[in-house]
Amino acid sequence: MQKRVRQIHRWTSIVFTATVVVTFIALAQEDPLVWVSYTPLPPLVLLLFTGLYLFVLPYTSRRASDSSE
Ligand code: HEM
Repeated sequence: MQKRVRQIHRWTSIVFTATVVVTFIALAQEDPLVWVSYTPLPPLVLLLFTGLYLFVLPYTSRRASDSSE
């Protein structure tokens, strides 16, 4: 499960970066394609939730805990 989420986060970051590059190109046109600038949003939302999941993992994982309880 953790591995899957990390993989999703990793590959979505590539997709997100690509959409940002495409947005730069689209907006640099003489007649800018403004709708293209919304394409990074879906991957960004996915990155946000998978990223927040990865962030809380060390705090919720039993194995990561070295406290004596
Ligand atoms: C939107 C909010 C985001 C949050 C909350 C977030 C959070 C995190 C967290 C907690 C990790 C794990 C760090 C660790 O190893 O302990 C991580 C890894 C990573 N993040 Fe994000 N991230 C976000 C957005 C992004 C974006 C925009 C990118 C790049 C475009 C990105 C790229 C990566 C990559 C490549 C890793 C390493 C994944 C791996 O270990 O395979 N993240 N992120």
